[in-house]
Parts: sequence; C-alpha cells; structure tokens
Amino acid sequence: MDTAPSGTRPAAAPAAHVEIAPSILYFGTPVVLLSTENEDGSFNLAPISSAWALGRTVVLGLGRDGQTAHNLRARPDLVISLPAPGQWRAVERLAPLTGRNPVPATKAEGCRFEPEKFAAAGLTGVPSRHVRPPRVAECPLQLEARAERVRPGASGDFVVVEAAVRTVHADPRVVVPGTDHIDPAAWSPLVYNFRHYFGLGPELGHSYRTQTPRTPGIPAAPR
Ligand SMILES: Cc1cc2nc3c(=O)[nH]c(=O)nc-3n(C[C@H](O)[C@H](O)[C@H](O)COP(=O)(O)O)c2cc1C
Repeated sequence: MDTAPSGTRPAAAPAAHVEIAPSILYFGTPVVLLSTENEDGSFNLAPISSAWALGRTVVLGLGRDGQTAHNLRARPDLVISLPAPGQWRAVERLAPLTGRNPVPATKAEGCRFEPEKFAAAGLTGVPSRHVRPPRVAECPLQLEARAERVRPGASGDFVVVEAAVRTVHADPRVVVPGTDHIDPAAWSPLVYNFRHYFGLGPELGHSYRTQTPRTPGIPAAPR
C-alpha cells in the first residue's frame, strides 16, 4: 500500500538525491563587514556571512569567542558594510585575522591577532554619523546600527545578535536616481557560497511586492 503523503513519492521510488554529511552548511548568503569598537577605543573589522534582514533589524550569527561578539556585548554600536563582488580579495585578507588577543583556542587553525584590520585588508574607515565605529568607505552600502539583543545561540558556540538599523548610506551608483530605492540591477551582494565567493547572475524576475521603479527591458515576473 502506498502510505506516502500526497505530493510525495513512495520511499521505494528510485532516489534522485543522496544523503550526505557536509562539514559546512554555508548555502550562499551575503558577506557583510562588521565594524565594532574595542575596549581601548580602536576599531575592529570582521567578515560575517550569517546575516539577514527582518524589516529594519539585521540578525547576525557570531562566534562566541570572537572580538566582534566580545565588543557587541559591551559596546552595542556597529556598522554593517556590504562589499560588492569585486571586493572579495579584501574580505579574504581579513579571513585569518582576529581582533582578540590572545587568540582563543576555538579559532580556526592559522588565525592570528591583528589590531589594524582596516589597514591589513586595504580598506578605509570613514566616520559614521550616529555611531562610533567607522563605515567601510569602499563598500557601496553601509548600515549604521545598534545591537539591541545579544543572546547565546542554542549550540553554545555562537551568539545571535539583533541589530536595529538607524541610517543607510548608499553609493549613488546603486540608487534609482531621485528615489530611496536600491536599484537591484545595479547592486549585487558578495555571496559566500560553501566557502567560495560569487556575485549575482542576471535578473530572473521580481516579487509582486516590489516597489522599485521599473527598469526598462526587464520583463515582469510570470504569473
Ligand atoms: C566570508 C566569511 C564569512 C564569515 N562568516 C562568519 C559568520 O557568519 N560568523 C562568524 O562568527 N564568523 C564568520 N567568519 C569568520 C570570522 O570572520 C573570523 O572568525 C574572524 O576571526 C572574526 O574576527 P574577530 O574575532 O575579530 O571578530 C567568516 C569569515 C569569512 C571570510
């Protein structure tokens, strides 16, 4: 008797998928650079790909022992700068660095302390308007924010941060002229896809909820 729920195939059907045990589940999320303030008033910069937006709140997943989590527990101001795909090398220069001294045992092998991460990455800090940590000048989008909640994640290895965005700075080249809309055809996030860097491909369509003024030549989403 076929006991499979409607819409699924019975278990005996030839399997199209294989069960695997991947070591990571980084299935392709945008990279952000987090600027935070250290104890001594200097600033730290760290690449993070566990980031997404819920309204004006950005949710971040951070390693419990890193300098960024340490800073946000004590000093909640931060800037979330979004690099473009062409900036992946600067991001990767930050990958083996921590602002934490001594380097925690939980950090990946080869990780080293670096107090001057902006310089190490070849990136430029520019003053923010509402928060102390600087924005990354080279990033087309920069979000000034404040960590409203910093809570332990269920596994104990991570903290989950809810950051309220106060101000958005945008390079005019990614803004629809004369509006507050980001032009999705002009902006691409840098996507971290199973530890490899990608940009976006061409547009496929759009949500029925889009409010972006139509770009000539892009077809409406199929109904
Ligand atoms: C592209 C990329 C994405 C990363 N994503 C995360 C992440 O989502 N959460 C995290 O805790 N670390 C992430 N890391 C690792 C941190 O950047 C790394 O642990 C770094 O040492 C943190 O710096 P800090 O200790 O100064 O905060 C990522 C690294 C790279 C290169």
